Amino acid sequence: AVAKLTLEVNGRTHELQADTRTTLLDALREHLRLTGTKKGCDQGQCGACTVLVNGRRINACLTLAIMHEGDSITTIEGLGTPERMHAMQAAFVKHDGYQCGYCTPGQICSAVAVLGEIKAGIPSHVSENLAAQPMPSASELRERMSGNICRCGAYSNIIDAITEVAG
Ligand code: FES
Repeated sequence: AVAKLTLEVNGRTHELQADTRTTLLDALREHLRLTGTKKGCDQGQCGACTVLVNGRRINACLTLAIMHEGDSITTIEGLGTPERMHAMQAAFVKHDGYQCGYCTPGQICSAVAVLGEIKAGIPSHVSENLAAQPMPSASELRERMSGNICRCGAYSNIIDAITEVAG
């Protein structure tokens, strides 16, 4: 059934008419025309669709837009602009953290959330003692970024970029 949805994206309130089965990804891309968020697999395997919901990362292809009324959603367009880049965007540019760029919006949203997770002391599978390590190790970052696939294989530059922002 078609319903009226209200979504708060990048600090703006949007009203849209959409089928209640519309994923958050399709709502962002097809209804709001925020096409920075990419559709890779559409089934939770690639991370290209990663956005921030209340500061936490989520695969937008795996959740319904209607479940996020009242949430604060941030997409790559809301993190920064070419003129005023977010520190993570600037670090990806500086370290060449991409080749084709398709996975980049998801990588950057994920990376921003990863640093928040580490700051909040949320351990990963490979964490030993987060509190005792002021800088996340490369293996810590690789583990946390493992849900974001890059077919070009820009992984080492991506880790370099995130490490710079973490430091
Ligand atoms: Fe959502 Fe691949 S498009 S994880």
